Amino acid sequence: MQVGGIAALHTVLPRVLAAGDSAAPLQLTPKPGEVNLVGPDFPATEVWGYNGQVPGVPIRLTHGQTLDALVTNGLEVPTAVHWHGIRLPNAMDGVAGLTQPPIKPGDSFRYTFTPPDAGTFWYHSHVNAYEQVGRGLYGPLIIEEAAPPKVDRELTWMIDDWRLLDDASIKNDFSNGHDRSHAGRIGNVPTVNGRFRDVIEVQTGERIRLRIINASNARNFALTFTDLEPSIIAIDGQPVTPYKPEAEIIVGAAGRVDLIIDMTGEPESLTSVIDNFYRQSFDLVKFAYQKAPLRDQAPDTSIALAQSSIPEPDLNTATTHNVVLAGGAMGGLQQAKLNGEWMDLRQIARQGYVWAMNDIVANKPTMPPLVEVKQGQSVRLVIDNQTAFPHPMHLHGHHMKLLSIDGNPVREAHWVDSPLVMPRQRIEVAFVADNPGDWLFHCHVLEHHVAGLGALVSIT
Ligand code: C2O
Ligand code: CU
Ligand code: CU
Repeated sequence: MQVGGIAALHTVLPRVLAAGDSAAPLQLTPKPGEVNLVGPDFPATEVWGYNGQVPGVPIRLTHGQTLDALVTNGLEVPTAVHWHGIRLPNAMDGVAGLTQPPIKPGDSFRYTFTPPDAGTFWYHSHVNAYEQVGRGLYGPLIIEEAAPPKVDRELTWMIDDWRLLDDASIKNDFSNGHDRSHAGRIGNVPTVNGRFRDVIEVQTGERIRLRIINASNARNFALTFTDLEPSIIAIDGQPVTPYKPEAEIIVGAAGRVDLIIDMTGEPESLTSVIDNFYRQSFDLVKFAYQKAPLRDQAPDTSIALAQSSIPEPDLNTATTHNVVLAGGAMGGLQQAKLNGEWMDLRQIARQGYVWAMNDIVANKPTMPPLVEVKQGQSVRLVIDNQTAFPHPMHLHGHHMKLLSIDGNPVREAHWVDSPLVMPRQRIEVAFVADNPGDWLFHCHVLEHHVAGLGALVSIT
């Protein structure tokens, strides 16, 4: 579809501090709703959202607070809620069929846990996620640091990518064969907080903390802020030593990046935030400077976050597991195991699967584990992407330290929960398997996961 014009100025999420404050749990109801995604020239889009909104109701806690949410299913299909990036007890992980039964229409499930880390996280459906997340079932989950860096304003951008028809309705072709075997469901309407081509008012001299959360089924972003020089202060919710990236800021599907941006543009000017990940670049949003500057020099206070308290893996005693990602279009996969049986790709594809991890096709939540370790063991994963597509590889219940890419140590080893592994790339991550349970490890291109790119990490 072709869309023009610029939507209204509404990219600040309302502040809701609902969970854990009192005895009453936060009411979270996945249900149908209507949201004007594309702008006033188009009709509203029928979505599925938490409490009917997109993004879902923002959840903010301070570090140490308990999240207590009663999820009541207002959809006509089963669902469950996953708290992406939170190191929580296995029974609260929200993976239907693995950590809990699906929540049937009209039924409820109560999630309570205390997030151990401050940072930028999100929550989303984990039942037929390729459709439920694709229709809008996601929301921000922010755990505030006790002493955050001083800023003038904090913004959260949940970025998404919709595949809409000309009447702005969602194209109902979820998880089709092409999306499964290629780059996933890449849409035609990228939004920030449910708005296409938004314009965000800023002031010259203002210091903003921007939390970016990529809730797309499949789209990765490579963002540039034109003449602005943002500093990255956290990746996937975990602090990094602040730095100004030389190239674009990559936010893979499911990934998060926290930035500090000093707004250095002239009053009344416009600055674009541009995506360059794919062949065609586009403006994701624009900043519009107000007439009155806030101050004429950037503040000189520290922007660093306190270090995270995730246990460091011991690389001397770590067990190493090689994980080969294979399959998909142009992937050259010949055969793999489905349901414990070797089959050639044609037989596998006939059942809707096209990907394999170490020659095994994931076709159900409970499977023999890919990695089996004792609690407390350090684990090193060498993830080798032998396919023609990027894969954001997400491990539930843990953060992994990204150590190297193609054998070259990264600038600073840092925690990730959904590292993007580019085609023909090999990354090395390590973590302490300190959280007991069976945990999903899967590609967060949701069409890839349902087409076989997943596995279990079992910790006893
Ligand atoms: Cu963000 Cu398996 O999930
Ligand atoms: Cu997750
Ligand atoms: Cu993938």
